[in-house]
Amino acid sequence: MKHLVLIGAAGSGKGTQAARLVSDKGYKHISTGDLLRNEISKGSELGKKVKSVMDSGALVSDELVIELIHANANLDKNSYVFDGYPRNLVQAQTLDKEVLKGRPSLAVYFKIDLGKLVTRLTNRRTCKDCGAIYNLLTQAPKKAGICDKCGSTNLVHREDDKEEAIKKRLDIFQQNTQPVLDHYQSSGRLLEVNAEAPIDSVFKQILGQI
Ligand code: AP5
Repeated sequence: MKHLVLIGAAGSGKGTQAARLVSDKGYKHISTGDLLRNEISKGSELGKKVKSVMDSGALVSDELVIELIHANANLDKNSYVFDGYPRNLVQAQTLDKEVLKGRPSLAVYFKIDLGKLVTRLTNRRTCKDCGAIYNLLTQAPKKAGICDKCGSTNLVHREDDKEEAIKKRLDIFQQNTQPVLDHYQSSGRLLEVNAEAPIDSVFKQILGQI
């Protein structure tokens, strides 16, 4: 299986589809956002350094993120879904040169009207224990406040899912993403899905192209 790189704005559904690719297709998932949030939960030095940056919606440094990728990826053993990485041209080039080193990969662009994302994100809840993703409007847990997958009552609203931080994340996405798309387009590795479609349909669109 080719490694997959999911590119899309905050709330476009990358994490939701990554979970399906893991459960149905056997990929391993690397989400730089999850890895960073895990460092914050652990209270590590790295976590302390990045918390305020992440909460505000800004990006953490390229150097720090590539360290996390190196520490968590075993390219000889697994096929990965990279979720939230790369986010700028430097990261895309680094992923090819220093991580994949010629191994085949495809990028999937989650195309969506950015105006739809504030509602999605202000209604997102994430299970702090197993990472399951919910939406109070479209994908609510069966019993309110309880995770369907692991039974935890720890369903949280992310700090960066407040309106001001969401706007900043979307601005940064708009500033940085075109060169990343061009990078994959120019090497014939760019796929696109309509991320406004229902979750099952987006998954089918991905499977139909990889
Ligand atoms: P990260 O955690 O990667 O956040 P993000 O990219 O902003 O993406 P999200 O997790 O918010 O959204 P998603 O696309 O996964 O959507 P989801 O599936 O949850 O990054 C957070 C922060 O970490 C960054 O701001 C930065 O500070 C730092 N960081 C991370 N990577 C970095 C990097 N490479 N370099 C530097 N800094 C980095 O879905 C959202 C909601 O919509 C859910 O409620 C879901 O149920 C719902 N939904 C999903 N699909 C659909 C659908 N098809 N229809 C209707 N609802 C849907």
